[in-house]
Amino acid sequence: SPAEAARLRAAGDLCALPTETVYGLAALASDGTAVAKIYETKGRPRFNPLIVHCVSAEQAHGIVDFNDQAGVLAERFWPGPLTLVLPKRAEAPVSDLASAGLDTLAVRVPAHPAMREVIAALGAPIVAPSANRSGRLSPTEAAHVVDEFAGAVPVLDGGPSSAGVESSIVGLAGERPVLLRPGALDQQEIEEALGTKLRDPKGGSIKAPGMMTSHYAPDQALRLNAAAAHSGEALLGFGGTPGAVLDLSPSADLRQAASNLFAMLRTLDRQGRPIAVAPIPDEGLGRAINDRLARAAAPRN
Ligand code: TXA
Ligand code: MG
Repeated sequence: SPAEAARLRAAGDLCALPTETVYGLAALASDGTAVAKIYETKGRPRFNPLIVHCVSAEQAHGIVDFNDQAGVLAERFWPGPLTLVLPKRAEAPVSDLASAGLDTLAVRVPAHPAMREVIAALGAPIVAPSANRSGRLSPTEAAHVVDEFAGAVPVLDGGPSSAGVESSIVGLAGERPVLLRPGALDQQEIEEALGTKLRDPKGGSIKAPGMMTSHYAPDQALRLNAAAAHSGEALLGFGGTPGAVLDLSPSADLRQAASNLFAMLRTLDRQGRPIAVAPIPDEGLGRAINDRLARAAAPRN
């Protein structure tokens, strides 16, 4: 990974790095040219800001202004799959393009040792959106990233991502904490640590940019809450669904289902048939899984 750090230090260069959630397309956060290249490579709309990845909470303090709630969550869950949205510091070494013109920044401290080594070797934070073309399935293996960009982006292989869905995003820049994206860290654990419920951004006034409805989309049509496959469909099961081509977790373990989600959707997508997905319980990690599935099945434009 010193090799990856050296690459990122060179102006304008990108590489894909493993994290415990999904693979990220990484650039040095302060390098505007490289950040622009991320948007270009992903085909990502410029108004959709990026997450800044730090090696420690101390490094994150140089980038955003913490409050008490941020301190509690960072202490409890970092390194790990939790992203905090906080007011951006004026002197943050982060390109304005990464925050897409907002006065807040999303920050997280990832747990994957290879990612941590690269940030430590670089001595500066990295921006890393999921390493997929915009709107498509997120990559949870190095080979997925190679497929996504036809080998055009170098990838550090850190094995399959253990969590398999993106970090949970909590907005702490407003009056009350908001869950901007359900993710790999259980909502209930976050609420217990805060001693308060997280608000749903749909009900409140804060809007997460980039929360487009269609996202994580396979090429094939996707039908949810399927009790059985219709003729011609490939069935993705859960908990031992009869007739399933693949099963997210035969033992109905949501953690296992999350870690298999994107890889199994990718595999079925390549078989060229419409995909039907069995119902997933809407609790714990199941909420993050159902959020991704709902967006993957949403009408595209
Ligand atoms: O697990 C993850 O978070 C992965 C790995 C690679 O770390 N990264 C990831 O990044 O999922 P990305 O770019 O695919 O998703 C970032 C999300 C977007 O929905 C974006 O709109 C939101 O974070 N976001 C970023 N900055 C924000 C801000 N200042 N306010 C609100 N939402 C923000
Ligand atoms: Mg993404």
